Amino acid sequence: MRHTRIIVTHYGGPDALRVVEEECPEPKPGEVRVRVLAAGVAMPDIMAREGVHPETPPVPYTPGWDLVGEIDRLGDGVSGIEPGQIVAAMPIHGAYAEFVCLPQRELVPVPSRLDAAEAVSVVLNYITAYQMLHRSAKVKPGQRVLYHGASGGVGTALLQLGRLAELEMYGTCSSRGASAVSELGGIPIDYRNQDYVKEIHRLTSEGVDAVFDPIGGAHLWHSREALRPGGRVVGYGNTTSLREEGLGSDRTGRRNRFHGIPIYALYIAGGWFLPGRKRIVPYSIQTLKRLRPELFRRDLIALFDLLQQQKIKPLIAQRFPLAEARQAQELLGKGGVIGKIVLVRNASSLESGAA
Ligand SMILES: NC(=O)c1ccc[n+]([C@@H]2O[C@H](COP(=O)([O-])OP(=O)(O)OC[C@H]3O[C@@H](n4cnc5c(N)ncnc54)[C@H](OP(=O)(O)O)[C@@H]3O)[C@@H](O)[C@H]2O)c1
Repeated sequence: MRHTRIIVTHYGGPDALRVVEEECPEPKPGEVRVRVLAAGVAMPDIMAREGVHPETPPVPYTPGWDLVGEIDRLGDGVSGIEPGQIVAAMPIHGAYAEFVCLPQRELVPVPSRLDAAEAVSVVLNYITAYQMLHRSAKVKPGQRVLYHGASGGVGTALLQLGRLAELEMYGTCSSRGASAVSELGGIPIDYRNQDYVKEIHRLTSEGVDAVFDPIGGAHLWHSREALRPGGRVVGYGNTTSLREEGLGSDRTGRRNRFHGIPIYALYIAGGWFLPGRKRIVPYSIQTLKRLRPELFRRDLIALFDLLQQQKIKPLIAQRFPLAEARQAQELLGKGGVIGKIVLVRNASSLESGAA
């Protein structure tokens, strides 16, 4: 049987993505073959394609952090799981494919009747948001928080989970995202036309308890200025490493996984040693998953439960067929996307929402 997958042929712009057709992979002992129903498209995919994400693999590789799929075939030694069951996983690479083989321990059951595109949005974005809120910042009801990139994939997850945690929320976004941020319970701040630090101090006087910053670089330090004493910045990205012109070009880049890391470390150290009791702490979903896999599994199961109870509702910006992965990444790279872009298996599910 043949299948399709996407590969990144070199580091650089969207033209690095190619569609290839080849023999379906066979599961090794202990592995399960999964038919992918939905795969998330996220900023870390674009950063890895550009060569500047810490998880950038050598080329050629298949991108795709997270997936929801149906169990298709079991390798030797696999038990307690049946073909046809719906599962989720976060392999970090490889999800942009029709079929993928994964170790059984990587799979988390997905409750029945969930939309695959909504379920996959929970894997990377909502676990990131949940763990940052409850494990890194340890927020309490009534606290004030500031989210950067509030109308994006992780940002909208932070807003929905922050509302459940009864937080007072502020969110930077461009003017296109302002109404989505308000609808999700946040007070939008237009980062293109306003200084968010001044705006936070005007609105709250003393500052916020926590800032969630995916931009990185000097932005982390500016975020720190929005804190009240004793507050913390959770740094979780380095989108500043992406050069604006690179996102749409056919330029060739190089693998530079540690791009921006030394300056990041310097800001974290500064937060600890300078007066003001305002710390910067890093968060990385992949590091926490490697160190504490049981937390990842427990948090994902809890979030699927919230999804089933309709306490969270991921915003799906657009669904694309797998073969249009390039267009999907181009759209995300252009900016202004509200919520999550998802690659889905069935053309019929593009409109209906039943991936
Ligand atoms: N550490 C981790 O474990 C982890 C896990 C998942 C994701 N991430 C990181 O999280 C970040 C967001 O990922 P995503 O998939 O949610 O991306 P996304 O959907 O593209 O969202 C990013 C948002 O940031 C906004 N934005 C861009 N520049 C900004 C600025 N200077 N100030 C405020 N907002 C700005 C964009 O809005 P406009 O386009 O409208 O300007 C966009 O809505 C990435 O850096 C990614 O690497 C980290």
